[in-house]
Amino acid sequence: MITITNLVKTYGSGAKATTALNGIDLEIAKGEIFGIIGHSGAGKSTLIRCINMLERPTSGSIRIGETDMTKLGKTQLQQQRRRIGMIFQHFNLLSSATVYDNIAFPLKLVRTPRAQIDKKVNQLLELVGLTEHAKKYPAQLSGGQKQRVGIARALATDPDVLLCDEATSALDPQTTDSILRLLLDINRKLGLTIVLITHEMHVIQSICDRVAVIQGGVIVEQGPVIDVFLKPQQPVTRDFINRESENAEALDDAICAPHAESARTVKVTFIGDLTYQSIMSQTVKETGVDFAILQGTISRIKETPYGQLIVRFEGDAANIRRTLERLVEQRLEVEEIEA
Ligand SMILES: Nc1ncnc2c1ncn2[C@@H]1O[C@H](COP(=O)(O)OP(=O)(O)O)[C@@H](O)[C@H]1O
Ligand SMILES: [Mg+2]
Repeated sequence: MITITNLVKTYGSGAKATTALNGIDLEIAKGEIFGIIGHSGAGKSTLIRCINMLERPTSGSIRIGETDMTKLGKTQLQQQRRRIGMIFQHFNLLSSATVYDNIAFPLKLVRTPRAQIDKKVNQLLELVGLTEHAKKYPAQLSGGQKQRVGIARALATDPDVLLCDEATSALDPQTTDSILRLLLDINRKLGLTIVLITHEMHVIQSICDRVAVIQGGVIVEQGPVIDVFLKPQQPVTRDFINRESENAEALDDAICAPHAESARTVKVTFIGDLTYQSIMSQTVKETGVDFAILQGTISRIKETPYGQLIVRFEGDAANIRRTLERLVEQRLEVEEIEA
């Protein structure tokens, strides 16, 4: 659906030049929710703005379907942009227009007949749950409601792709979740491809299928969210994941607490159906070792449940080794942690 090849974007020239993107290759499939995560200044906004040519790439290509966006003239580009909706962190609504008129705006721009506009806007109001607020002005809405208007406006021209630039970063956690649920709902109902950039792993974890991690204008890691989340390869990725687990310090204390020479501390990960099975208790019954739970989480990545336990096995060294082997045989991920 979207193919980005060797994309470079340099702002300015000479001594003042900043290379914001330095050779990005990405392939985004039709109908997926693709997340891009990175710290401030990593190049996220530049990347997403290059996709619809709000920023002109310095070199490289961006294809949407069969169309190379970098090769289009002005009129063709305007037409192509109607296939790409965009929403923003600060909503970018017209403050002097009602909710209804904000959503109708892109349709008026292309002189859509009034009856058709009315039908479309009413459908969109319903889709985003704002039917009762149609006559209000943006200043009368909450942040979450403003973003719903932004989403409806972005969908007015029936795009194939929705670009989201930190769309939930100005919202509180509860409102963030409701907007993420709405995006997921739209993705499913309309088959819309969504590209979402964020600095919050939680956003990626909730709704994305795949994720790319961007640092200094380069993609340093990418893959299905479940793989990247459970087996991060890069320090920056680990940092994003750990940032949201507040217990990092408590865990350090637990890992360093006095323990027997033969004890082994491991992280055990259960994915999917395995999450809810009693594999641990059955295994230790079999091998006769004890264990202490130092930390535990059960959560979800999109729809896939997973559990992660940090446990210290205690007992006879050979029995502990046997226990770890048995866990691996039963398809759990087992990773030893140095105390
Ligand atoms: N219009 C611009 N002119 C010059 N430099 C810019 C411009 N926009 C962004 N940059 C620079 O490009 C880099 C990436 O910025 P940006 O894409 O906004 O990152 P992010 O969205 O990840 O915070 C930063 O170093 C930023 O200062
Ligand atoms: Mg940005």
